[in-house]
Amino acid sequence: MILLDGKKTSANIKEEIALEVLELKNQDKKTPHLAAVIVGNDGASLTYVNAKVKACERVGFESTLIRLPEETTEEELLNEINILNVDNDIDGFIVQLPLPDHIDEQKIIMAIDPNKDVDGFHPTNVGKMALNLPTFISATPFGILELLDRYNVETSGKNVVVIGRSHIVGSPMSILLSQKRKVGNATVTLTHSRTQNLKEITLQADIIIAAIGIPEFLKADMVKDNVTVIDVGITRVADPSKKRGFRLVGDVAFDEVSKKSDFITPVPGGVGPMTIAMLLKNTLLSVKNKQA
Ligand code: GUN
Repeated sequence: MILLDGKKTSANIKEEIALEVLELKNQDKKTPHLAAVIVGNDGASLTYVNAKVKACERVGFESTLIRLPEETTEEELLNEINILNVDNDIDGFIVQLPLPDHIDEQKIIMAIDPNKDVDGFHPTNVGKMALNLPTFISATPFGILELLDRYNVETSGKNVVVIGRSHIVGSPMSILLSQKRKVGNATVTLTHSRTQNLKEITLQADIIIAAIGIPEFLKADMVKDNVTVIDVGITRVADPSKKRGFRLVGDVAFDEVSKKSDFITPVPGGVGPMTIAMLLKNTLLSVKNKQA
């Protein structure tokens, strides 16, 4: 079993990005600038956004964190997005999801300038991604492609089963892996909560992407020997023995599934850190797009 080490891989990617930033600075070019908007006080979301901002500092990017109160109206948030859209110093920005219930998420995403949409959530960018045209590929699927690539996991002709059809992970992952691309050319089955006989399907999989947000959902009796498993889940499960009062659990029963796996991602330290590295990569791409 080989652990797909997202922590180490993302550190390598960040080093590569930091070198490119130095290069830009040496040429008196603009320093990449990423902004993140967060509404409300959700603990997990705050942790993620802070990690994104910290990662910017480490690679030499400029960063701006915009914290808005839970009561922020849709109009106020749209206004904030407009300011970022027209600010020439901002190369890319993200609005951390989920948003409070009184704000229409789709409306917010649609308001982001597609050229600054480094999350790749705007319909224009999702459409380009689906057509295999150059665009910002969402950080989580992008990070999974990169991890498979750097560990030379063969995808061409393989049976891939994606569990979960979210707009952020499952859906784009199934599209990307079926495309004609370096990490792709797979035969993909997208499964979800209405899928019947899921176990029969996962038992045929060479590669499983678990992204349904149910802790330890994928068990050893659902996978064949020598499988590759990508665990996208990260749920906080209460654990009084831990300093923070919780532990992080993935969608995969790691201890039992890893025994049958050729390659598997840990949680934490697998997909999560890759996501942040790819967000930085997209921001750098935005700067390059402007210069081109
Ligand atoms: N919430 C969970 N994942 C993401 C992400 O990749 N981007 C944003 N903006 N919000 C998220």
